[in-house]
Amino acid sequence: MKHFNITFEPGGRQISIREGATLLEAAGKAGIILNTVCGGKGICKKCLVSLQPSGEQVPACQYRIQNDITVTIPATSRFFEQRILASGIETQAEIQPDIYKQYLEIATPDKVLGVAVDIGTTTVVVKLIDMTNGQCLATCADINPQSRFGDDVVSRIAYAATDAKLAELNKIIIDCINELITRLCEQASVEPKDIYEMCVVGNTTMNHIFLKFPIEQLGQAPYKAFSLDANDLSANKMPLHINPAGNIHTVENIAGFVGADTTAVALATGVDSAEETTLVIDIGTNGELALAAGDKLYAASCAAGPAFEGARITCGSRAAEGAIEAVVVSNDDIDLDVIGACPARSICGSGLIDAVAVLLELGIIDSSGRFARPGTIKGNLPPAIVSRICEEQGQPAFALASAEEAGGQEVVLTQADIRQVQLAKAAIRAGTKLLQKKVGLGDSDIKQIFLAGAFGNYIRKESALRIGLLPDVGPERIHFVGNAAASGAQMILVSRRWRELAKDLARKIEYVEIAHEKQFSDVFAGCMLF
Ligand code: FES
Repeated sequence: MKHFNITFEPGGRQISIREGATLLEAAGKAGIILNTVCGGKGICKKCLVSLQPSGEQVPACQYRIQNDITVTIPATSRFFEQRILASGIETQAEIQPDIYKQYLEIATPDKVLGVAVDIGTTTVVVKLIDMTNGQCLATCADINPQSRFGDDVVSRIAYAATDAKLAELNKIIIDCINELITRLCEQASVEPKDIYEMCVVGNTTMNHIFLKFPIEQLGQAPYKAFSLDANDLSANKMPLHINPAGNIHTVENIAGFVGADTTAVALATGVDSAEETTLVIDIGTNGELALAAGDKLYAASCAAGPAFEGARITCGSRAAEGAIEAVVVSNDDIDLDVIGACPARSICGSGLIDAVAVLLELGIIDSSGRFARPGTIKGNLPPAIVSRICEEQGQPAFALASAEEAGGQEVVLTQADIRQVQLAKAAIRAGTKLLQKKVGLGDSDIKQIFLAGAFGNYIRKESALRIGLLPDVGPERIHFVGNAAASGAQMILVSRRWRELAKDLARKIEYVEIAHEKQFSDVFAGCMLF
């Protein structure tokens, strides 16, 4: 597949993307979320960008990439900047950092920086923010090193049964954040001493481990949080590498299994003020759901597991260089989009969803997720595709990239991998179904879906719908909002008003415990099917 380099201004972010992709996809890949009010139909013109050097304005959702190009994105076309950094007067009104008090105590600080932190069960994302204008100066992410003690919150809770073990998990996450702060500062050529404010979000378990709050009760019914409140801690009380005069703010949790990250997502997506029935799905190891219907706001969580983050998958990885991020059928074979335009080494969440959709479409796996036996596949598959059906450690598999194509180790998708995808998608779909049921909404009642999560904006909507990950709505109703938890943390970091709003939201959201619904097992089993 031919690739081109796209540079986004302001900021100079550069990515490489396949020929024929839209500028909207390219922006998503660069981590820039554009407004897509009409769902990419080319009608609303909310995603306008200008091509350089001509200055020609085009809708990003319609413009197909045919060459290397530099693109300028106005603030009015950006989804989050609209909320945080909308141009002119609104910018002045929105940036209200809480750290003004501390200006008086600090001798002539030359820079005033903040860090937004999203502690996910599997990944940790940090953003370095200039507190004077809200600009993001650098972003870094890493695997949550607590993963070695279990890849979901339940195993972390079980591990932290003693104070010593809880302290161990706390130290691990603090060390990880410190390491990420070092990387942020190197990237932006600034000093950690210039960081005066930190805003931390995460699910309730991650929040409690960060604060060294007891978590044992989160593992037993009724799964009560030790605290749902926001906290402000003096930086000199925590071994975090920021200015000791700084402040660390943790955001309000909603319930034992729906934490501050959902509060941040709800804030960033503005779901509470949505005029239409809106479902927000934050896909992570712990999938979080928020549903706005009328003037009510509900939230629930589902244990998706880390498959979409690349864990428990034979050749799975995060969205890193060499990871397959898209799979399509082309020229009687499959065609791959690999991050970094290099030989494939692994497959990440978006590639996984695409690959399963393609295998279903080709009849190589059936609706129960089983690989078809050779000779039972309906229709005539092209020989190049048939040659990819193989066996891996005694189980049926499909070679997405042969050893030759991958320049070494082949990248395969096995029967066990398909099962992991089924478990993850069934958890999310069963969660949304039960939440809808509770509120009395069918799929057609949902007017828009915001898909959040670190890899949210890379997923192909059609593939997500094909595997049954999402409610059955038209693709035009699905909008990607990227890592909305980190964006929400950024908003709360820079503005007292957003901080107040987050507090109101957390108290307004009604938690729905879906995993204990009587029909849960039946609905979950039904959702395992493709
Ligand atoms: S015109 Fe591009 S999203 Fe509406």
